[in-house]
Amino acid sequence: MDITELILVDHDRQRRGFALSDEAQGAKADNETVQAIWDGLAVLLDAHADAEEKFFYPRLLDLGKEGDDETEDAIGDHNDIRDAVRAAGTHRAGSQVWWSCVADARTANSDHMGEEERGALADIRRGAPLALRRQLGLEFAAYEASRAGGQHIDRSDKDPDIYIEDHG
Ligand SMILES: [Fe+2]
Ligand SMILES: [Fe+2]
Repeated sequence: MDITELILVDHDRQRRGFALSDEAQGAKADNETVQAIWDGLAVLLDAHADAEEKFFYPRLLDLGKEGDDETEDAIGDHNDIRDAVRAAGTHRAGSQVWWSCVADARTANSDHMGEEERGALADIRRGAPLALRRQLGLEFAAYEASRAGGQHIDRSDKDPDIYIEDHG
């Protein structure tokens, strides 16, 4: 599968994960349920950003028309998402401050997905042949699958300019 399609599938799973947390909040689900839903979503958010930084953005820098600008925005957004996920991890699931961290993660992620879909994904579809996008899709999917349990994910924030220098 084309990497841009896999990224769209992940984005849909992320939107649904936040929707599920609305359901849990509305149903006044116990903290264990709320925590379990969030833990799955948090791993998905972090693994997705890491996999994009490993397999997608380096190619966009090579082949995209606006690769540098799109990558700079994306790395900054990924940092915001990681920061909100990390902040949620420091509070008790279900508490007010915890819900506020979840809301921050959702806002950062929602803004980012829209921008990524309009910019970076469209750009690489125009600039990279399907065979390459499919090859990248395999690498992206294998990497994410190997991190589905939450282990070995790079959750570190990156300086966008240094990332571009290292991968451009
Ligand atoms: Fe994404
Ligand atoms: Fe992204």
